This record gives sequence, structure tokens and C-alpha cells, in this order.
Amino acid sequence: MSSSAEGAAATSGTPRVAVLASGRGSNFESLADAFRCGEIPGEIVLLVVDKPGAGACAIAERFDIPWLLVRGRRNRDAFDAALLEVLREHKIDYVFLAGFMRILGRGAVEAYWGRILNIHPSLLPDFPGLHAQAQALAAGVDESGCTVHFVDFGVDTGPPILQRRVPVLPEDDEATLSARILREEHRAYPEAARRVLNGVVRLEDLRIGENI
Ligand code: GRF
Repeated sequence: MSSSAEGAAATSGTPRVAVLASGRGSNFESLADAFRCGEIPGEIVLLVVDKPGAGACAIAERFDIPWLLVRGRRNRDAFDAALLEVLREHKIDYVFLAGFMRILGRGAVEAYWGRILNIHPSLLPDFPGLHAQAQALAAGVDESGCTVHFVDFGVDTGPPILQRRVPVLPEDDEATLSARILREEHRAYPEAARRVLNGVVRLEDLRIGENI
């Protein structure tokens, strides 16, 4: 792995987690709750947002979690460099993407290989990318759900850690299906985080396409 990876090697004490979010922050809130209750070994020590006024910031303040804005830059490498600097300054061990609307560059993914998690509102590999719930409705599937996965170099392609399923009902629209999936997301992300931080699941033990 490159020298940037060595610079971000995990520390040995309590795992230090940064959550990256762009908007509302309900998944961040479910994670913050679970860490606070002691369900997950570690601590969320930082929220990073890329949009001023992201709802997640108010949640961070309620939990006394420091937050900061890394301004969106057009150049992915420049954003990555700024982000990596922040993560290193705060001695971050794990990065949890929770509604973070940017694609991380190669440098960040390499630096935190096996220690970046993401949640996506579909049963990956089905319906990656934007508007996953609308994609599911358009495809006419009768089941959808959410996936928590390790981040690799693709978009929503990394090995899944866990999935939760929900029915798609004939009367569903994007809003009703999204709400049903979101309820499962709020349970799935803390559970996946617990498994990873407890060392029960490691990226190198997983294979893409495994059905878990
Ligand atoms: C969630 O549906 C998540 O799966 C997707 O973006 C949404 C974020 O919602 N990646 P929130 O900001 O966590 O409420």
C-alpha cells in the first residue's frame, strides 16, 4: 500500500470514527445513538460535511460531536487531500459514509482500505448510484432493502457486510419505499459497525456478491 496508507494506520486504543454526511443525517444519528449507548466499541469523534447547512450538523451539536465543513471542490484529488489532512489531524481510524454524496478518490480509499463503510438504499449489487429506490420501483421488483458495505474503488461496489430486506408494495411511491428502507437502515448501520469494530467482519474475508 502507498505511503498515504501508512500515514492512516489504525491506532491501537479505542477506535476513533469520523462520519461523513451531506444532508439530513438520520443514519449518522442512529450511529451516534448506538455508540453513545456502548453498543459499538469506539467513539465518533468527528462529523465531516461537504455542504454548509447540512442537517447532520445540528445532530452533531446535540451529541456534542465536533463537526467541520470540508468545502466541496471540483477536483476530486484536491478534495481528497483536504479530507485526508482532516482525518489525520483527528487521528481517525474508521470512516463511515452516511448519505455522503461525493465519491471518494483513490487516495482516500487506499489510505483507509478496509476501514471505510457506506450504506446504500438497495440490495446491492442491484440499483447502485443515485435514486436507488426509484430504480427499484421502475424495475418492478417486489423486494428491496439496504446494504452496508466496505468501500472499494467503484461506486457502491464494495463487499457487503450486511443487508436488510423490505417488501415493495403495489401502492408504493419513492417516498413510501424510501421511508420503509430507511427504518431498516437505522438498524443495519449500527449492527454492521458493531461487527466491523469488534473484528467479526473484515474486508479481506469477504467476497463481492456474497449473499449475507
Ligand atoms: C440514506 O438513504 C442512505 O442510504 C443514502 O442516503 C440517505 C441518507 O439519509 N446513502 P440520511 O442523511 O442518513 O438521513
